[in-house]
Amino acid sequence: MPVSERIETAVAQAIRQSQAGPAPGQLAEALDYATSPGGARIRPTILLSVAKACGDDRPELANSAAAALELIHCASLVHDDLPCFDDAALRRGKPSVHRAYSEPLAVLAGDSLIVLAFEVLARASSEDQCRAAQLLLSLARRTGMPNGICAGQGWESEPRIDLAAYHRSKTAALFIAATEMGAISAGHDPEPWHDLGALIGEAFQVADDLRDALLDENALGKPAGQDDLHGRPNAVAELGVGGAFDRLSDILAGAIATIPSCPGEAALAKVVSRQAEMIMPAVPARYRS
Ligand code: IPE
Ligand code: IPE
Ligand code: MG
Ligand code: MG
Ligand code: MG
Repeated sequence: MPVSERIETAVAQAIRQSQAGPAPGQLAEALDYATSPGGARIRPTILLSVAKACGDDRPELANSAAAALELIHCASLVHDDLPCFDDAALRRGKPSVHRAYSEPLAVLAGDSLIVLAFEVLARASSEDQCRAAQLLLSLARRTGMPNGICAGQGWESEPRIDLAAYHRSKTAALFIAATEMGAISAGHDPEPWHDLGALIGEAFQVADDLRDALLDENALGKPAGQDDLHGRPNAVAELGVGGAFDRLSDILAGAIATIPSCPGEAALAKVVSRQAEMIMPAVPARYRS
């Protein structure tokens, strides 16, 4: 089954599970709204690609890991768009969850998706208890404090913010989870996979900052100019457009070299190159050095 189909099936199955029984209807609907149709699904794609490169001997466990990671990502977007964070009215080309359903339901939808992600992994322990425990630990560490998305969003309330630490926790954390969890799902040591996730994640946020500065709402499917509007530290403010673009190119060029040796190394290098091309925003030629 293609990776994209594995992801959609696993995410849909998790959402169905959370809607079973006499659940409150609007919240149940909001969970579906927040997760489908999805965006690029880059994190679970990387996770399953790493699992395949490592042999993918427990595909059901890898599918659960991919779904859990995407659920955390979707939850982070629902919370990120709330008025108390970025106050964004649009996400993936449609009204953000709090605009479509209300603020209380968006808080609860984000919370429910986070809990659901860990429930999915706990249920997957029937596939392999030891690996499931490692997956739970990896995802928890990259979601909470001190190194996960909560830490990343928490930096925004500090008087001084270090851009690298901010990007590492708000965005690179889930890419580190992607590479680590892919390896764990297939019974490999996650440690050598850390740097690949960290580099792709760092590049991803630099690219997001460039898009935020250069593109419009129609192209983005979410509001543009947000970093400037909210005074968020970002790669464009720190390095300029040309400098941010050079930084992005440098990071991506180094990413492939960090792929640990594994049975599917060559195929994974192709996937990473393809993802790198997709990450790279179309920056006008005048900004390129
Ligand atoms: C957006 O992530 C949030 C950032 C970390 C910049 P994505 O661009 O992966 O969002 P979707 O899932 O494709 O919509
Ligand atoms: C958000 O960063 C990262 C998380 C959702 C944790 P941004 O605030 O830059 O993401 P977008 O641009 O709204 O997608
Ligand atoms: Mg934000
Ligand atoms: Mg935002
Ligand atoms: Mg952004």
